[in-house]
Amino acid sequence: MAILIIASHDRPDRWARELLAREPDLDVRVWPDVGNADDVEYVLAWKPPPGALTVLPNLAVVFSLGAGVDHLLADPDFPDHVAVVRVVDPYLTAGMREYVVLHTLRYHKNQPALDQQQCDHVWDDRARELRQADERGVGILGLGELGHACAEALTRLGFDVAGWSRTPRDIPGITCFDGRGGLDALLGRTEILVCLLPLTPETEGILDADLFSKMPKGACLINAARGGHLIDEDLIPALESGRLAHATLDVFRTEPLPADHLFWGHPQITVTPHNAAITDPRSVVVQILADIDRHRKGDALSNLVDTQLGY
Ligand code: NAP
Ligand code: GLV
Repeated sequence: MAILIIASHDRPDRWARELLAREPDLDVRVWPDVGNADDVEYVLAWKPPPGALTVLPNLAVVFSLGAGVDHLLADPDFPDHVAVVRVVDPYLTAGMREYVVLHTLRYHKNQPALDQQQCDHVWDDRARELRQADERGVGILGLGELGHACAEALTRLGFDVAGWSRTPRDIPGITCFDGRGGLDALLGRTEILVCLLPLTPETEGILDADLFSKMPKGACLINAARGGHLIDEDLIPALESGRLAHATLDVFRTEPLPADHLFWGHPQITVTPHNAAITDPRSVVVQILADIDRHRKGDALSNLVDTQLGY
């Protein structure tokens, strides 16, 4: 049995070291040094090259090195008999909670305008007219591991939080909407919108002009999910018309964001380099090894992805 790491953008040697530190006898290989492909039963992957998995006849489980699995399922040659496991980890959840709280508070406290006023040496007394958190509607698209944790943290800070999911959810203190029918109701009460959806055929391009038009004028957007959720061409007109006040973007259709991309220099856009929440190999390797053990004993895997639903 061999484990293959395919993660050219994500510290493959670090993953190998963490595995071997815990189980020194493991046969761990790092792409593209596959060795005898027949041996490979488990793959740890982040954005594997299309078709890379098709050369592994005995592959049983692919462990996504992140919470999202769109980087795997986008491959038309992704083998459909293979189980897919994703990351659910307290450190990843904490990272996202910190990111969403940081940027929500930044908007709530009107910090982008205050930064500009400091640049301009302007003391504007109107900045002292503050809104209370319970007067601020925050909407979270996606109430899964990450969305739920962020919604609870924002509720504890006093915000008026609503969330949206595919199937009905009931979370104390959070107004829950579901399905296409529930989306408009969420948008109508949302001044700060946080996207934490998985990227699937149903959610691709969901952050578009039509969606922006359903939020109160001057709302803010935080997209920490995937670049494919946003219709890039709709964002700048929404910002420049005042429909949206500001957007914080951690994820992009092309990553790294090209140096000449308009988003970099736009005064109403905050760009972060897909670092809202980072998988910590120290804790996730423990889960992966436990899952491999379970799989070898014929027991159920944890955090299995429904590859038909795409998340
Ligand atoms: P998750 O636990 O699978 O939760 C997904 C949520 O989205 C669920 O509430 C689900 O509804 C909802 N959903 C899925 N399809 C929907 C649809 N068509 N309409 C409405 N709601 C829908 O995922 P997670 O662990 O919270 O992660 C979410 C995403 O965050 C990942 O897929 C990844 O793309 C992104 N992410 C980004 C970073 C970063 O650093 N920027 C880090 C980690 C993750 P149900 O509850 O009904 O199933
Ligand atoms: C990061 O984007 C992840 O999916 O964990």
